Formats: sequence, C-alpha cells, structure tokens
Amino acid sequence: VIVTILMIIAAYLAGSISSAVLVCKIRGLPDPRTSGSGNPGATNVLRIGGVSSAVLVLFFDMLKGALPSYLGYKIGLDAASLGFIAVSACLGHIFPIFFGFKGGKGVATAFGAMAPIGGDLALCLIVTWIVFVLITRYSSVAAMAAATLAPFYTWWLDDRFILPVAMLSTLILIRHKDNIGRLRIGEESKVSRKKSIKK
Ligand code: G3P
Repeated sequence: VIVTILMIIAAYLAGSISSAVLVCKIRGLPDPRTSGSGNPGATNVLRIGGVSSAVLVLFFDMLKGALPSYLGYKIGLDAASLGFIAVSACLGHIFPIFFGFKGGKGVATAFGAMAPIGGDLALCLIVTWIVFVLITRYSSVAAMAAATLAPFYTWWLDDRFILPVAMLSTLILIRHKDNIGRLRIGEESKVSRKKSIKK
C-alpha cells in the first residue's frame, strides 16, 4: 500500500510538469496558456511553435503518463493501483501543482498512461484519433472521440482497466467543455501549423 501511495504521489508530481509551458519557454515561444487556444498542450504548441515543438510536448506529456503506469506494472501492482496511478498522472497534468493548478486537457498524458495496458489498446486509440482528425481536422473532436471509445476498447481488450479508463475519459471530456462551446458556434480552430490562427 505504501508503495502504491508513493507511486500515486510521484505520478501526480510528474504529471504536474507542464511540457508545453517549459518547451515554449526554452524555445523562446509565446506562453501557450495565453496564446492560441490558451491550452498548454501539444495541439496548441503546434499552432504557436510548429511541428518540432509540438512533437516534443506530445512526447514528454505522454512520457509522464506512461512512466508511472509502466513502473507500477513492472513492480507488479494490481489493476486498481495502476488505475489510480494513471488517473493521478492525468490529474497532475490538468491541475499542476507547479503551475498554479492551471493545466491542460490530459489527452496525451492519459494516452501515455493507458498505453502500457497493451499495444492493441494504444493502436485502437491512435487510429481513432488519426481517423477523426483526418475527417474533421479538429484535434479536440478526435480527442473526444478517442476518449469516448476508450472504455469500450478497454472492455473489449482488457476489462480489468475499465474503471480507470472511464475515469480518464470522463476527465478529458469535461476538460473539453470550452472546445464544445467553440465547436457549437463554429469558432474552434482546426489542426494547423500556421502561427496566425484565430483564438
Ligand atoms: O489535446 C487537446 C486538444 O484536444 C484540444 O486542444 O488547444 O485545440 O483546445 P486545443
């Protein structure tokens, strides 16, 4: 139990490291919390700084979800503990202790945390995300589609993890409230590398 609690705390702290804010700061780019959509995530860094910065953010945001889940899995923690660790990493990203509790939407971190469940689940999620981006050109729609389908994929592939995956999906969907509002009034920005995208 002690190990699980320590891992949950470590996952929250790792999740709290905002890759988007740090990558933008190091590369001399505008703060993603006040530029573009205002979201410190890979999609918004793509808008602000282009592909290489976005890929870095995506990688580190996924890593901070994947590392704690993978370590927990390697040391033989049970499914419930792994689930708490995954949710904790995502909560760190969404409510980061190091960045005034104002974080991102948790998509990349949740994906990283779910990936160690299995390559087949990871593949289903990636394919879902890509298909929806190609069809709609909205990163938010793709993320919400993948989040909605994730519990069903998990039920099909490894039902021990349904509860934590459903919790991660719920968190992600709630965090897309503003995107849903923008989509409804036709003001959501499409996936683009251009620097002058409207808010
Ligand atoms: O991963 C976040 C994405 O789904 C939406 O980001 O910047 O368009 O609000 P953004």
